Amino acid sequence: MQKFAFSLLLLCSVNCFSQNVASFNAAPAKPVKISRHIYGHFAEHLGRCIYGGFYVGDTSKVPNTNGVRNDVVDALKKLKVPNLRWPGGCFADTYHWKDGIGPKDKRPAIVNSWWGGVTEDNSFGTHDFLNMCELIGTEPYLAGNVGSGTVQELADWVQYVNFDGKSPMSDLRRNNGREKSWGVKFWGVGNEAWGCGGNMRPEYYADVYRKYSTFMSDWTNGNLMRIASGASSDDYKWTETLMKNIPLGLLGGVALHHYTVIDWSKKGPSVDFLEDHYVKSMKAALQMDSLIIKHSAIMDKYDPKNRVALVVDEWGGWYDVEPGTNPGFLFQQNTMRDAMIAGVTLNIFNNHANRVRMANLAQAINVLQAVILTDGPQMILTPTYHVMEMYNVHQDATLLPLKLKTNNYVSEGIKLPAVSASASKDSTGTVHVSLVNIDLHKEQKIEVNLTGANFTSASGRIISSPKINDYNSFDNPSKVQPAAFDGASVKGNSLSVTLPPFSVVVLTLK
Ligand code: AHR
Repeated sequence: MQKFAFSLLLLCSVNCFSQNVASFNAAPAKPVKISRHIYGHFAEHLGRCIYGGFYVGDTSKVPNTNGVRNDVVDALKKLKVPNLRWPGGCFADTYHWKDGIGPKDKRPAIVNSWWGGVTEDNSFGTHDFLNMCELIGTEPYLAGNVGSGTVQELADWVQYVNFDGKSPMSDLRRNNGREKSWGVKFWGVGNEAWGCGGNMRPEYYADVYRKYSTFMSDWTNGNLMRIASGASSDDYKWTETLMKNIPLGLLGGVALHHYTVIDWSKKGPSVDFLEDHYVKSMKAALQMDSLIIKHSAIMDKYDPKNRVALVVDEWGGWYDVEPGTNPGFLFQQNTMRDAMIAGVTLNIFNNHANRVRMANLAQAINVLQAVILTDGPQMILTPTYHVMEMYNVHQDATLLPLKLKTNNYVSEGIKLPAVSASASKDSTGTVHVSLVNIDLHKEQKIEVNLTGANFTSASGRIISSPKINDYNSFDNPSKVQPAAFDGASVKGNSLSVTLPPFSVVVLTLK
């Protein structure tokens, strides 16, 4: 009897008294839009991201359109990819765009010195990428070569791609078969200038940026957005130096790169990880919140009118490569842990939509936290794909700032908020709430107090699986996929939700 009472007490201390509470107003006083560009992706000439991933060439047996895989195009259309960054990454600062235009058999072969030392035949170049973006229905984000290029080379690329009048570069484009300019808005001025992009000091890069961006003429009626290579994680000095030294008129965005890595020298396996790796990964992912708060505070100081966007153009989980694969190709599997990373990170971006107006998951196919994996003619969608697809309801919706008091998930001496959430209202007035429970062992009950609307129904979808290590494979491509969620109910102005352990849910309230 005594033993029973004790167990009950123990159970209650875990479940009965714990309550997560949240509230939001469906009619916010100062509406902020969640830019769809927060849901951007990244395609680098790295491993099998471009070759074999996006592009198989037009003589391939894999169904394709001008060499681009049809299955990939269809999957990315469903995802509603708002923008795609290319050609790097580190590769961008070695890339000379003129190598990738004109007849394919005349293009020079180069060595991809950052990624595996493989031969790059330049068969996928500027036209291939920009035409592919049109097929997918996404906006291109070009990363210019600052590290080993020249000011003239980047200025020429902008003219080649964006100028409709008569000029040496637009004539060259027409000779290569494209009459109308593509009108590319997003331009990165180098990548990781503090590292693979040239090992520069921030003061030096700020001057380099001023020079390059001055000569990147805007042929798009004031639409061109120049984005400075940003800080690595908590390098606040980098952001401060850029914001202080670059005139705001030249600066559309400042980047930030933050990967979910538990230890750069020992990243751990992508599939066979234990709880200690998991909790450390979630800690690293959740760090995104404080990074954004601190980088934004610096930006607020120099840009109080909030003109410059914080562009998180590389984020995601980074683990050891799959055994037996080329270490330079960064190929890893994608499990339920990645679904959790995607869910909490996208909630963080949504909640900071005021300053974070663009972001790019690294990377789209076969590299790091990919949404798609391919193997010859086969293609599968990862748990991360499904989270991003479920969350796309937030694209361009109005943020509903949410107050949240959550229980903790405690493991290995690390204490983290168990629940993460964000909410938005779309153009039809429908409200969506995305919720993540990172706790591996306990379900979480959440009471959400709603004001500003009268909801009568709550429906939704969930991503969960029996094991946190579960993933989709070519043998079992549907192991992890969204299912209907029946754990939510709405009554008056109160929404009750029960989230199973390690799950991601997106609710529709009407
Ligand atoms: O995404 C892989 C690499 O990570 C990118 O090329 C580089 O920018 C970063 O260090």
